[in-house]
Amino acid sequence: MTVTALLDGPGADVLAAACAEYKPGRELQLVEKLRRRYDATLVTTAVTQAALRHRAVAKFGADASRMFFTPDGLEQATRTTVGTHRAVRLAAAMPGASVVDLGCGIGGDLISAARAGLRVTGVERDPETAATARANLAALGLAGEVLVGEAESTDLTPYDVVFADPARRADGRRVFDHNAYSPPWTFVLELLQRTACVKVAPGIPHDAIPAGVEAEWISDSGEVKEAALWSGQLYGGTPRRATLLPSEATVSDAPEAEVGPVGQYIYEPDGAVVRAGLVTAVAAAVDGWLLDPRIAYVTAAEYVATPLASAYEVVEELPYKEKALRSWVRSQDIGTLEIKKRGVDLDPAQLRKKLAPKGSASATLIITRIGRDAVAYSCHRLVDRYGR
Ligand SMILES: C[S@@+](CC[C@H](N)C(=O)[O-])C[C@H]1O[C@@H](n2cnc3c(N)ncnc32)[C@H](O)[C@@H]1O
Repeated sequence: MTVTALLDGPGADVLAAACAEYKPGRELQLVEKLRRRYDATLVTTAVTQAALRHRAVAKFGADASRMFFTPDGLEQATRTTVGTHRAVRLAAAMPGASVVDLGCGIGGDLISAARAGLRVTGVERDPETAATARANLAALGLAGEVLVGEAESTDLTPYDVVFADPARRADGRRVFDHNAYSPPWTFVLELLQRTACVKVAPGIPHDAIPAGVEAEWISDSGEVKEAALWSGQLYGGTPRRATLLPSEATVSDAPEAEVGPVGQYIYEPDGAVVRAGLVTAVAAAVDGWLLDPRIAYVTAAEYVATPLASAYEVVEELPYKEKALRSWVRSQDIGTLEIKKRGVDLDPAQLRKKLAPKGSASATLIITRIGRDAVAYSCHRLVDRYGR
């Protein structure tokens, strides 16, 4: 039984009852209770949907309680924050444009695009997933159509913009190689010759991105979520960009930066900035320099608040030797130890275990490589840009 059974009539009643009483971990009891009043298959479908809605709040916020999901569709859907950012950028460049979303899934991106005033058409090969996307547009009172079909055989001439978020899963597993996307990368490259926006995994190699296409790495609350590729009329004029949500801080220039010894502060750039290869933009923002030309830490003499990086105040430089670090942990009475590392082959969890912090103070240890040498800095974490 599919989500369409829950859209109206008795299905809608069971779904309302299931959602009203849903508590994670109590699914079996809920199924048992509702089966006294309703059809057994309908009850199972409704309770599954209630569980998916509960899980979907993390991606879709309050909308989740009105939306419909398939397990795979929810897993693969774009979260509202990121979808909205892209849709608003697209609508600012081409207000009211018609957009075809090739492989629209349950409609995460379709919803954001429709809300941004774009005219949306979704194409989805899986009929149940397509029906779910259709139900979502209707449930949220948004205009748009969803067609069952193959991306590759869709006539693109009626649309101003093509959007695609290729599936990055095969046999239920996540696929990291962009050559294994569906629709395939060769098709994506064809799309990027028109006015298009394509969502790809943030690990996309820089050399896979065609000339004249902008790759925008997007993070949300410090987690890198994706790279959005913009082509044709949507090309922003720079090959690489990093955008940080929720601040919307965005950088696209990589100015020259000096390399020099550690200053009073170390800055750890946001992952989107690092992936975009724009670390020197952080150096420019904080009037700082790099510790090593190949390592993504910036250092500076002063503390400058920036949405682009987390900042740490350096207390002392320590040798990267287990014995020395253990005695530092003991002498400073450290109990809470955060370990950050770049350019050094180590497992922070294992090192923490070996250093056995048991005291009452807290500290951050930044371990990095300068030239060929590994060094450690004991630091105080300043309140980061998310107030943590
Ligand atoms: C990553 S999901 C899209 C998620 C969507 N952007 C969202 O936010 O909900 C990719 C979707 O593309 C569909 N798909 C994969 N290959 C396709 C093809 N060749 N033609 C049409 N749909 C395809 C899959 O069934 C899947 O639902």
